[in-house]
Amino acid sequence: MLSSLLDRPRARLPRNDPALYERLADHWWRPRGRFAMLHWLAAARARLVPPAPRPGAVLVDLGCGGGLLAPHLSGSGYRHLGVDLSPSALRQARRHGVTAVRGNVLAVPLRDAVADVVVAGEILEHVPDLDRAVAEACRLLRPGGTLVLDTLADTALCRWLAVGVAERLPGLAPRGVHDPALLVDRAALAAACARGGVPLEIRGIRPRLPDLLAWAGGRRDTVRMVPVPSTAVLFQGRGRKTDHPRSPQRHREHPRRTA
Ligand SMILES: C[S@@+](CC[C@H](N)C(=O)[O-])C[C@H]1O[C@@H](n2cnc3c(N)ncnc32)[C@H](O)[C@@H]1O
Repeated sequence: MLSSLLDRPRARLPRNDPALYERLADHWWRPRGRFAMLHWLAAARARLVPPAPRPGAVLVDLGCGGGLLAPHLSGSGYRHLGVDLSPSALRQARRHGVTAVRGNVLAVPLRDAVADVVVAGEILEHVPDLDRAVAEACRLLRPGGTLVLDTLADTALCRWLAVGVAERLPGLAPRGVHDPALLVDRAALAAACARGGVPLEIRGIRPRLPDLLAWAGGRRDTVRMVPVPSTAVLFQGRGRKTDHPRSPQRHREHPRRTA
């Protein structure tokens, strides 16, 4: 009786359940673990971070997870503060030099204008209140500071690719990590950023296919992300906080290159 209980596979969690990150805690830093794609995204995200504007400049990493951005910021001069709900993820982030802050991105326990850069990587599609998360990100930024984000678009194509396909392929996304209802409406995101004083520019990205095949065949440890013309699936955003919050506006595509 006891053995049959012990043998039972672990119950599947509801979608977007924070307990998933505790279950998969030992995957954060594995290049072929369930969070592999987050490593590729962290490298692409870091390329949007401007050089530190002054000694001791602060970068706040919202939903920092295991701190995968940290190696890409090494030597950049930023003090890297990571905010997350997951105790196991924060422990690992701390080991990689991140100053860990346990907190909710919907009510961040940090003062206004503390940050030269706020990063929101693969977090906005996990929160139930996009406006509030964006308002918090903008509140933390000092005027002239930079917001950097990447997330998933609220489109049928993205629901199919990010949830239907990626969650069935090892390394691209853990099963159940995304709730399709929380994917991000790009116009709503741009409007929320504008209300917070950050005109946002976005561009689509995807894994480079030859790298992805080589990674899948065990011939590469990482995959480069490359720009794509469409923002309908995975996209990055960047904007600089103005002194005067603007009225809502439509998002604009931007021509910067990744990779
Ligand atoms: C998909 S992971 C992304 C982690 C990291 N940004 C990266 O790209 O490697 C999402 C992270 O957000 C955290 N998270 C989810 N909801 C949160 C919330 N409301 N407040 C703070 N952290 C949250 C999770 O614990 C998890 O570490």
